[in-house]
Amino acid sequence: MIFTMLGVRRMFEEHIIRRIRWYIRRLYSWFLNLLMQSYWDEIEDCKVKVFDKLSEKAEKVLEIGIGSGPNIRYYAASNANLTLYGLDPNPKMKKYARKSASKAGFKHKSFRFKQGVGEAIPLKDNSVDAVVATLVLCSVSDVTQTLKEIKRVLRPGGVFIFLEHVAAKDGSMFRRLQKLLDPLQQRLADGCHLTRNTRECILKAGFSGGVEIETYSMCSFPWITRPHIYGLAYN
Ligand SMILES: C[S@@+](CC[C@H](N)C(=O)[O-])C[C@H]1O[C@@H](n2cnc3c(N)ncnc32)[C@H](O)[C@@H]1O
Repeated sequence: MIFTMLGVRRMFEEHIIRRIRWYIRRLYSWFLNLLMQSYWDEIEDCKVKVFDKLSEKAEKVLEIGIGSGPNIRYYAASNANLTLYGLDPNPKMKKYARKSASKAGFKHKSFRFKQGVGEAIPLKDNSVDAVVATLVLCSVSDVTQTLKEIKRVLRPGGVFIFLEHVAAKDGSMFRRLQKLLDPLQQRLADGCHLTRNTRECILKAGFSGGVEIETYSMCSFPWITRPHIYGLAYN
């Protein structure tokens, strides 16, 4: 009898703890979304600029780190004959990316999800007209190898379009803060690094057709990811 009562009490306590955790998680994600909304709005403006640079002539495009497909809607206007390859290491993204693709009006065969990493792209040499990466080179484990792979799959004259947050100016207070918070950021944001010199990596990658890079400093939270770079690199 006593054992039964103890068991019921424990079950009740566990239920309450689960409920409290559930409310804390809801509150946390609501608060984070609230804080992040202006960042998403600002990043959207940058993405529009980046996708404007995608030529109507690009018929085969690869997006690296496509995630759940937040960018897919930007392709819809670029070309009706477009085949989009979406690459992501996380297989769970396939369902969401596919949903975003069909919402954006892609036919089933025009959107192909590929599970894999930027460091070993599962496509043939010179097989795509454009490669897109937004907020991804901060998360790959090897930026140089990823850029090498991007160059390999791009046809001659093809374009790499990017938007990334990068390390603040060397020696600045902000850079020191980024260095301090980098390990925490990697843990909380799925391997995202705050201190990457992605601009230099892109400049050194050997895009022989030239590179155009612009810098943008976001006003919105989280300020720690400032500045961002965006632009084009031609193969
Ligand atoms: C911050 S999200 C960006 C998603 C989307 N590109 C955007 O602009 O919102 C980073 C994405 O990169 C993916 N990723 C992480 N490591 C990667 C790698 N080595 N190669 C390709 N994608 C990777 C993650 O799974 C995630 O979907």
